[in-house]
Amino acid sequence: MSNYHIKNLEEYFTVYRKSVRYPETFWDEIAEEHFMWRKKWDEVLSWDFSKPEITWFKGAKLNITENCIDRHLRIRGDKTAILFEPNDPSEKAEHITYQQLHDRVCQFANVLKEKGVKKGDRVCIYVPMIPELAISLLACARIGAIHSVVFAGFSSNALATRINDSDCKIVITADGSFRGKKTIDLKGIVDKALETCEGVKTVLVAKRIEADITMKEGRDEWLQPLLNNAATTCEPEIMDAEDPLFILYTSGSTGKPKGMVHTTAGYMIGSAFTFKNVFQYRENDVYWCTADIGWITGHSYIVYGPLANGATTVMFEGVPSYPDWGRFWEIVEKHKVNQFYTAPTAIRALAKQNIAFVEKYDLSSLKVLGTVGEPINEEAWHWYDENIGHKKSPITDTWWQTETGSIMIAAIPYVTPTIPTFATLPLPGIQPALMDADGNELKGNQVDGRLCIKFPWPSMARTIWGNHQRYKDTYFSSFENMYFTGDGAMRDSVGYYRITGRVDDVVIVSGHNLGTAPIEDAINEHPAVAESVIVGFPHEVKGNALYGYITLKEAGESRNQDNLRKEINQLITDRIGPIAKLDKIQFTDGLPKTRSGKIMRRILRKIASNETDSLGDTSTLLNPEVVEDIIKNAL
Ligand code: WT7
Repeated sequence: MSNYHIKNLEEYFTVYRKSVRYPETFWDEIAEEHFMWRKKWDEVLSWDFSKPEITWFKGAKLNITENCIDRHLRIRGDKTAILFEPNDPSEKAEHITYQQLHDRVCQFANVLKEKGVKKGDRVCIYVPMIPELAISLLACARIGAIHSVVFAGFSSNALATRINDSDCKIVITADGSFRGKKTIDLKGIVDKALETCEGVKTVLVAKRIEADITMKEGRDEWLQPLLNNAATTCEPEIMDAEDPLFILYTSGSTGKPKGMVHTTAGYMIGSAFTFKNVFQYRENDVYWCTADIGWITGHSYIVYGPLANGATTVMFEGVPSYPDWGRFWEIVEKHKVNQFYTAPTAIRALAKQNIAFVEKYDLSSLKVLGTVGEPINEEAWHWYDENIGHKKSPITDTWWQTETGSIMIAAIPYVTPTIPTFATLPLPGIQPALMDADGNELKGNQVDGRLCIKFPWPSMARTIWGNHQRYKDTYFSSFENMYFTGDGAMRDSVGYYRITGRVDDVVIVSGHNLGTAPIEDAINEHPAVAESVIVGFPHEVKGNALYGYITLKEAGESRNQDNLRKEINQLITDRIGPIAKLDKIQFTDGLPKTRSGKIMRRILRKIASNETDSLGDTSTLLNPEVVEDIIKNAL
């Protein structure tokens, strides 16, 4: 009688209703049945969104690594926990069993202890996608240190800001990283960052690319010799349920990045429960999430969620285009991947390539496809469905945030019927609400509003490191007694949610509320269009008008641009109505993207509004050079 693995729609509704009526009983049962505790809790939940103060499983004691590793050893000691696929396909994949993972995590934990790291200390992890990355997170968790992973693609500036914000005394890094044909000098970036981080006394360096790097006497040390000398057992630190597990930075719309703080028990339960249900993971499945562990997706769905379920989780070091655009599909075939989880931006890039790259490989092992990170447009959804899933693997479009810790709204594959561009239904335990601009909840279906969550869930971030006031202002001040997500959403006639994008992406044109995603969907149907972004800009008569930035497929580049503009507006008129037509269309070679692949709309909005002198920081972009190009050719 476990409600841990939902098997059909009826069961979903039963479980969901229960989770809303008796949330504490619902989570209490999950916590009781599926995890290993050193001491049970005195109270399931206490909460006050006005402070905000949220406590789950108060009084409970545990260590998350016992749940992710030790408890599996008896039955899954020889099962592959982490399947490491290197950047270069000619290098052998590495199968790390649960037993080996245990030993390596303990060794790493002992090294950290030897370096003076204690419970509650912050450890900065700036490591590429190699096994040491996953192991270092778990090693911190083993001894109760708080990890702060910084994506190993961020600049030295961004790294330094994050190290200083949470006052890390130690940095774990590597001599460099492989990315496709390139190598990246990570250690050089760390050295530069540390010029402004006086608190850092120790740097542990993993060897990956055999680069000739400089090691600073008294500060820098190679990791491997230390690991070799460390014991393979390490008593786990016994943590309180609400002790911080990690900090992960997310960029705010303004100001410096926000260090979201996630705590131990709630995060564990949230990531494990959602992993099992959203990916319908079964024993012996091979699961692959293509994200980097530097993002929340990798924390929750490469490391903690899969390992808490005793799963085999693939960790891929490389990029989708190396040695060619068939790389993802080659890996799916080679490791017989059953669940595949990626981002819409990757799907669009893959869909632009010759289909022969897909057809060359046997993808029949796939059972579940997932997407995350932004609304998936209809064209990309269909490409994914037809060419990768062969229309037999359900696509789960998973909506969530760094702040939510785990997936919130998503189809449960083989349970929830899917519709392209709809994240569909909330997972059990999640209570979304749509609000109008005046702060009223929009009840019933066929409504459109700001997406809030009206009841706490275990994996929600508890605060922003060092700035609780900002946590309150950002998430709990827009609507009374609600967590505000910053996203807009609509609920259709059957109660399905469609995320329409950040609320600030909604443009009011002549009094009409236009979500940009549906317009982009319409544009992307044009055979010459690769990618598009719509933003609003001030207009004398309409209040706002629409500006489109559009990149073309190769086939579109030789076309007459005025004709293309007409065709695109005709498409929009056909799909949405003349109200949604674009006043300006700029064709561009690229769109400014964050390193996680999110398009930086804020910058495009400024350019469209002619406010190029207040663009803000563009240094963390993947491709800062396209910004200049777009400004030069702006209409
Ligand atoms: C924002 C959170 C959660 C892991 C990756 C991003 C957007 C995320 C979806 C989706 C539409 C989505 C939202 C959200 N987003 N997933 N399936 N459909 N939008 O984490 O960097 O914290 O970004 O990404 O706008 O608020 P993040």
